[in-house]
Amino acid sequence: MNINYNTDGTLPPDAFRITGGETVTIASADGAGALYGKLALEEKIKLGADAKTLDITSVPAAKNRILNHWDNMDGTVERGYAGGSLFFKNGDFAWDPKRIEEYAKMLAAVGINGISINNVNLRDDSRRLITEERLPQLAELAAAFRPYHVRLIIAVDFAAPKTVGGLPTADSFDDGVIAWWRETAARVYAHIPDLMGFLVKADSEFQAGPAALGRTQADGANVLAAALAPHGGTVFWRCFVYDCLQDWRDTKTDRPKAAYEHFFPLDGAFAENVVLQIKIGPVDFQVNEPVSPLLGALTKTRRAIEFQVTQEYTGQQIDLYAHAVPWTRALKTLVRPGQTLAQTRADTVVGVSNVGNDANWTGNPLALANLYTFGKLAWDPTLGAEEILRDWATLTFGNDAAVTGTITEMLLQSHDVFAKYTAPLGIGWMVQPGHHYGVNVDGYEYMKWGTYHRAAHDALGVDRTSRGTNLTAQYPPEIAAVYENTDTCPQDLLLFFHRLPYSFRLKNGATLIQHIYDTHFEGVEDVRRFIATWETLEPRLQPQLFAVVAERFGRQLENAVEWRDQINTYFHRLTGIPDEKGRKIYD
Ligand code: GCU
Repeated sequence: MNINYNTDGTLPPDAFRITGGETVTIASADGAGALYGKLALEEKIKLGADAKTLDITSVPAAKNRILNHWDNMDGTVERGYAGGSLFFKNGDFAWDPKRIEEYAKMLAAVGINGISINNVNLRDDSRRLITEERLPQLAELAAAFRPYHVRLIIAVDFAAPKTVGGLPTADSFDDGVIAWWRETAARVYAHIPDLMGFLVKADSEFQAGPAALGRTQADGANVLAAALAPHGGTVFWRCFVYDCLQDWRDTKTDRPKAAYEHFFPLDGAFAENVVLQIKIGPVDFQVNEPVSPLLGALTKTRRAIEFQVTQEYTGQQIDLYAHAVPWTRALKTLVRPGQTLAQTRADTVVGVSNVGNDANWTGNPLALANLYTFGKLAWDPTLGAEEILRDWATLTFGNDAAVTGTITEMLLQSHDVFAKYTAPLGIGWMVQPGHHYGVNVDGYEYMKWGTYHRAAHDALGVDRTSRGTNLTAQYPPEIAAVYENTDTCPQDLLLFFHRLPYSFRLKNGATLIQHIYDTHFEGVEDVRRFIATWETLEPRLQPQLFAVVAERFGRQLENAVEWRDQINTYFHRLTGIPDEKGRKIYD
């Protein structure tokens, strides 16, 4: 196939137009657009399109489409389930140029244009990535990503003027600190002129920040922004700020309110090159959460929607779990009157990476669908889950309709299945503390992290309506009204927003307790069905792939059984209410 590349200055950055014919024309305003156009053409052809009749104009919805790696320099990956780091080992850089090139190409193929490689939780060695000692190697890595238009971001320590620079303070109002950041930015950009910027987790889970020094989040972010501005760099400032030393006896403090409380009053106070990076849900990447009220509330500040591609609370790449369904649902959620999250056009979309140095990238090969989904939605947040997953399955497994159809269907169901056998109706957090895989109903109940279900013999859940912690008041009134009322609150968020008696009747007529029993029995049966379905594909799949996934399904079943039995027993013991259907609940 002949391809003709045209420059069309009227197209926005990164955008492309493909016009089919004997010779296919790809028009773009820049090199990135030309690359995205070429990769999109390859993808369309693999998906069965006729190059002669193509007529596509594609413009990314978000300017910055970024992956955050949480990789440590010792080679481990925080919340990583796919081997070690692609970038680091034993306290040093260690990367395979061939692997990085493949990775960069893979990222470009889904439109990702930025990547941070080091964990937002800084350690001594990673704090020093911005020093002369480390920058030459970092620049080499930046060069490896550059041909694919993927720009590096560095996660930095807010206290770096002290911890790295040896200054007595990191206070944003101190002249020495201001100068130190300016010099640091100049040094970093001398090595990596196209660096996208700095990523900061400040005042969050024991990372240093401006609050401890009596300054606001805006004071803190703006000092870094001023240092980066002359170089065209951006500060990605995370909003995951909450009291992680809460007393469980305190029922007034409510963790999901925290990001809004800290950042909404500062709307408009941040420099133009600061992007507030906000987790998609107000708590922490649970299976079902509402969309963060902060995402819709900010109108004068740039913002990023942060997704967690890696499956920390969602099965750790053992259990089958496609993010496509909950993410597309979230993007369609109204966050302002008449406006969905996708339409607010946050100019940055971030995903916490699910990739490691395992040969198949994601440990579970089916988890690669989540990286694909992330890139596709960052580019076009109006896409549907089914088309994304079907395309991924076709690109990955070829055009055997039985295989792609079956895998697409399993992926589409996977979120609901996982939600059935884990914590009920949006309540979250009934996981093993620390590593977060598997059930532990009270694992976080008496801890300091602000994550409580408050189950009693007569009722379950946290009242976050105007009668309770009033989280709902952070949403526009029309949207708050939906959550306030148990008739209109989406069922999968019922116990997120309401504290309800076990006798509460759901829409299908079942009581809350019966729903808990039913879904937990069903979830296990659904996993058994996944296993049986997967087995039908054995003759059509490459043996190694079949075996790796089959082994994970085996572990998923054990996990689901354990969840089912512990959840059902816990609530049966607490309430004394029997299962109407008389199934086995252990006492
Ligand atoms: C979660 C996760 C941490 C991570 C944090 C974050 O709490 O468990 O490992 O550091 O999110 O987003 O910063």
